[in-house]
Amino acid sequence: MSLQFERVDVLIIGAGLAAVTVALHLPRTLNVLLVAKHEVTSANSDLAQGGIASSYLEPSSVDHERDTLVASKLAAVPDRVYTLVEEGRTAIQELERFGVVFDRDATGYAVGREGAHGMNRIFHAGGDETGRHVMATLRRQLPDNVTVMEHVLIDTLTKSDGRVSGATGFNGETRLHVQAGAVVLATGGIGGLIDWTSNCRSVTGDGLVLAESVGARLTNLSRIQFHPTLLAVDSPHLVTEALRGAGATLVDTSGNHVMGQHPLGSLAPRDEVARTLTNHVGPVYLDTSRVERLDERFPKLVATCDAHGIDIRRIPVRPGLHFHMGGVDVDAYGRTKVAGLYAVGEVADTGVHGKNRLASNSLLECWVFGKRVAATMTLEEKPFTVNETTVFEVSDDLFGRYRQQIGEWLTISPQLGKIVSFLENTQQLPRTKHVTRQLSEQTLSIEAARLLARAMMRTEDGYEQDRFARTADGIST
Ligand code: SIN
Repeated sequence: MSLQFERVDVLIIGAGLAAVTVALHLPRTLNVLLVAKHEVTSANSDLAQGGIASSYLEPSSVDHERDTLVASKLAAVPDRVYTLVEEGRTAIQELERFGVVFDRDATGYAVGREGAHGMNRIFHAGGDETGRHVMATLRRQLPDNVTVMEHVLIDTLTKSDGRVSGATGFNGETRLHVQAGAVVLATGGIGGLIDWTSNCRSVTGDGLVLAESVGARLTNLSRIQFHPTLLAVDSPHLVTEALRGAGATLVDTSGNHVMGQHPLGSLAPRDEVARTLTNHVGPVYLDTSRVERLDERFPKLVATCDAHGIDIRRIPVRPGLHFHMGGVDVDAYGRTKVAGLYAVGEVADTGVHGKNRLASNSLLECWVFGKRVAATMTLEEKPFTVNETTVFEVSDDLFGRYRQQIGEWLTISPQLGKIVSFLENTQQLPRTKHVTRQLSEQTLSIEAARLLARAMMRTEDGYEQDRFARTADGIST
């Protein structure tokens, strides 16, 4: 197998907003390598619809802070939430300085509203194509010291003298070794482990496995968020919560308001809406008859519905896997407990989301904490010693069966028995030194799913307090 060797100051694994924010804010004197597993645009950030929450237009961040804490079931870490919302006040201006153009109307910024926000504070671009616009603009601004490589799979982190010293993986099918003074995990969440998700299929928890392998701590892995409204067609698409913020309501086949009993109606916190819809018997629709200028404000949704022959006035929806609140434990500057290793964005557990992330706080988190990582990063070159990598020897067919099993327990109502069988079935998998890119990718997915499964088991067994609000937990208490 051919081998490629790179020596850089900083290796950033991932290509979404967290990765790009770090890259944009590192000193230009550093040699930075940013690697994307597939195309750079295969990142969840590119799919973001609703937008970026910020109290930029409010007298203070107090209300945004309260809404974030309440949505989190008071499980978010107050100091970190303060950092998020307070530093998030300037995010809109900062993004504009990089060329991002947010939507405006006759009154100024056309801020929208989403579930559990007490007011309109969601900034968006291109209607419901915020992620695509923001990411395309920011990627154009990446300076010359940042090299972007696509189709790079990182499967192993290397460590020397207690410090992460680089990584190995594949560039296409070529074995790749990267020596780095620091490594940033910005690999996103776990949604791609199953089919019924709003996420890109390539986002499969790699960062969790890499972090754990070098001794970083993983926290709150069982905190998983389901989005109430994915389009109920064969291939899932997100139907943005901003549509409900603009007046759409969730109705049953007879037109009755499904969230009618909740004081916030269809704009109740995301986990509560998702749970109600999961327990609802019969189809649920978004009634958009009261949404004004639908074509102009939600062009992506209109095009998607057209493509599927769906009547835009009555959109069939069902919940799906959306976001991972838990992840790699980091401090307020994205530092893991392993020297030289940072984590940012959805892969990290910054503590800002608690048990349920407030809508449109995720892009904000990427920006605020990405800047912090860049501002505090320390570099140290250590000898690059490669450990032998082994992978699971699984056939395509067997891997397909494991994926199907994961889809059966990684749900809003996980069943202990299914988790146990998955863990048992994958416990004794044979390993091989004949590492191929495909086996590496499949191994990372299986290992990530095993980490999640074990965390869910622990929650069921011991951590009773988590059972009351875990958004992946269908057990009513
Ligand atoms: C949405 O547009 O509904 C998703 C926004 C988010 O997950 O924050």
